[in-house]
Amino acid sequence: MLSNLLELYLHDLSEIFPVEVGPDGRFGYDWLSLYWSQPERRFAFLIRVGTRAAGFALITRGSPATDDPEDLDVAEFFVLRGYRRSGVGRRAAFLLWDRLPGSWVVRVSEANRAGLPFWRSTVHEYTKGGFVEAQRPGTPNGWRVFRFRTTDG
Ligand SMILES: CC(C)(COP(=O)(O)OP(=O)(O)OC[C@H]1O[C@@H](n2cnc3c(N)ncnc32)[C@H](O)[C@@H]1OP(=O)(O)O)[C@@H](O)C(=O)NCCC(=O)NCCS
Repeated sequence: MLSNLLELYLHDLSEIFPVEVGPDGRFGYDWLSLYWSQPERRFAFLIRVGTRAAGFALITRGSPATDDPEDLDVAEFFVLRGYRRSGVGRRAAFLLWDRLPGSWVVRVSEANRAGLPFWRSTVHEYTKGGFVEAQRPGTPNGWRVFRFRTTDG
């Protein structure tokens, strides 16, 4: 199921990143099996609305944007189009941060017209403003990196 949902996600992201389908018509995602072979460092979550799949979140320990190998990084995050703008992504992110306490890193391309306002407002609301936002260079578009801590109590 995740492999199929990843195709829809990658198709959305192909508007802003140069990802291409292979000869089988699929984008493919080489890292998915690592979420089962490295269960201490990678966490895969399905987002459901009722009994239906509505998206997913893939989380890694260690982030390309920071040096601490224990940082929790939102590697991929997706809500199916039919469920968007109804608070599903926000609720899923809140559950995620409640579930895995620690130092979080959220990276988003400045070209991601839904993702940037989504993360800024969701992180702001969850942390009540207790986060740091930084800019990182990138070609053709820069990145925004949000950092904050969550606790288990
Ligand atoms: C980004 C994404 C996860 C948002 O999911 P969602 O379930 O639609 O988000 P929510 O309904 O919980 O939105 C919460 C808030 O984020 C902001 N937001 C979400 N989508 C937005 C958009 N398209 N434009 C502007 N603001 C947006 C709004 O402030 C929204 O609150 P509001 O609807 O009350 O105004 C979804 O659009 C998606 O999967 N996009 C494709 C994949 C992607 O870009 N993932 C992020 C990679 S970093």
